[in-house]
Amino acid sequence: MFWLMFLLHVVLVQYTAPEGLAMGKPGCRTKCGTMDVPFPFGIDPGCFQEGFDLTCQHNAADGTYKLLSGDVEVREILLPTSQVRINSSISWQCYDNITRNIRSSSRALNFTSTRFTISHIHNMFVSIGCDTLTYNTMMDYNNYKYRTGCVSVCYSRESLQNGTCSGIGCCITPIPQGLNFCSISFDRNFNSSTVSVSDFRRCSYAALMETNSFFFKTYYVTNSYDYSYNSNVRVPILLDWSISNETCEVARRKENYACVSSNSVCIYQTTGLGYSCNCSDGYHGNPYLEDGCQDVNECANSSVCSGSICVNKPGGYQCLCPPGNLGDPSHGVACYPRDHKMHIGRTMFFLPFTHIYTYVIFCTSKREE
Ligand SMILES: *[C@@H]1O[C@H](CO)[C@@H](O)[C@H](O)[C@H]1NC(C)=O
Ligand SMILES: *[C@@H]1O[C@H](CO)[C@@H](O)[C@H](O)[C@H]1NC(C)=O
Ligand SMILES: *[C@@H]1O[C@H](CO)[C@@H](O)[C@H](O)[C@H]1NC(C)=O
Ligand SMILES: *[C@@H]1O[C@H](CO)[C@@H](O)[C@H](O)[C@H]1NC(C)=O
Ligand SMILES: *[C@@H]1O[C@H](CO)[C@@H](O)[C@H](O)[C@H]1NC(C)=O
Ligand SMILES: *[C@@H]1O[C@H](CO)[C@@H](O)[C@H](O)[C@H]1NC(C)=O
Ligand SMILES: *[C@@H]1O[C@H](CO)[C@@H](O)[C@H](O)[C@H]1NC(C)=O
Ligand SMILES: *[C@@H]1O[C@H](CO)[C@@H](O)[C@H](O)[C@H]1NC(C)=O
Repeated sequence: MFWLMFLLHVVLVQYTAPEGLAMGKPGCRTKCGTMDVPFPFGIDPGCFQEGFDLTCQHNAADGTYKLLSGDVEVREILLPTSQVRINSSISWQCYDNITRNIRSSSRALNFTSTRFTISHIHNMFVSIGCDTLTYNTMMDYNNYKYRTGCVSVCYSRESLQNGTCSGIGCCITPIPQGLNFCSISFDRNFNSSTVSVSDFRRCSYAALMETNSFFFKTYYVTNSYDYSYNSNVRVPILLDWSISNETCEVARRKENYACVSSNSVCIYQTTGLGYSCNCSDGYHGNPYLEDGCQDVNECANSSVCSGSICVNKPGGYQCLCPPGNLGDPSHGVACYPRDHKMHIGRTMFFLPFTHIYTYVIFCTSKREE
């Protein structure tokens, strides 16, 4: 149960498909349970780009759905940032002080020969225990190999602090960029057999996981709960993905160029991944589908042109002053009655909008990059 606490801290930036926008090819399923499956991802034959095929598993017994990429559990697909959030299991090693045996379970993530890499910005390597040395063996898209370690020790309960992961019961290390393989292992000579404080757990845990989802609690190392009895617990990992390893320049000249929507842009990821697509500023939807990118109605947010009139435009919006007023609300000059002297920075002052028929002054405003 206590590992579930990890997950309570996940800052989920839910991506929900904008309403009324096509997310998949015609006739293709774009939902698995409550999860969105936008193209280039797809479930059915002919519904996905190569390398983005998923399986939707329905468990009739408990009514749950599982979205799988190979044997990897997908939690969420994020189109605008070309990422997916997956669920991953935790590795552990426990010392049995009666039989003096070590039991363990170590996990590896293998994304070689896929379009996915582990985001070095959003994930880290976490290791927990009172007599623990863990190794993280990794490989990146260039087939360079890396090995890092994390040591944690505790001598007294008092030395442990909630939220502090500095080597006392808890250790974290960043990861290199562009990883597509990672394997966790434990040093058997750091096995808690000599841990003297009787209420410290004789288990070590380790996981690669999303930085935002982790907050160290002292009871991870002190209470008697043993994670090895609950192998269903999962932690989130954020992966980056791309369409192909080509640059935008090269990809654009090809027939299978993926950014097919008007008002879409090509994005080249420098971490060895290649290119992916996004809707242009002021548009949202699916850049991988024809006409997938649709105008954002910025005026739906009443604070966008606060104190003036909002007019939605393709890819942007205008803030207009009511009739009889001057000003330039898009550039921070509040509307003011024509017969008043202008003061930049004065508080908004404008007439009621009840009799507006014509706009005296307007200017175009585009969202900034
Ligand atoms: C991921 O794991 C969490 C916690 O174990 C669970 O609540 C959630 O349903 C899982 N999500 C998927 C899509 O499997
Ligand atoms: C894609 O566009 C959205 C909305 O304009 C933006 O928030 C996001 O950062 C962009 N993604 C990338 C990778 O630039
Ligand atoms: C990772 O997966 C690839 C392809 O599935 C396989 O060829 C390779 O041997 C795996 N690597 C390891 C270290 O297991
Ligand atoms: C850490 O927080 C838990 C509750 O979340 C609390 O029970 C525990 O006493 C705290 N430990 C320390 C050392 O403050
Ligand atoms: C546990 O670690 C100690 C050293 O701290 C070592 O002597 C012992 O052999 C290890 N036990 C096992 C089962 O590997
Ligand atoms: C094993 O550990 C428990 C608590 O962690 C302790 O109560 C018990 O005495 C230990 N047994 C042996 C044989 O060391
Ligand atoms: C891109 O991937 C292909 C195989 O899909 C490979 O042959 C090629 O070397 C890669 N190019 C770069 C620049 O990584
Ligand atoms: C509305 O616009 C304001 C100012 O531009 C911004 O701070 C806020 O996050 C927006 N709210 C929503 C729901 O988009």
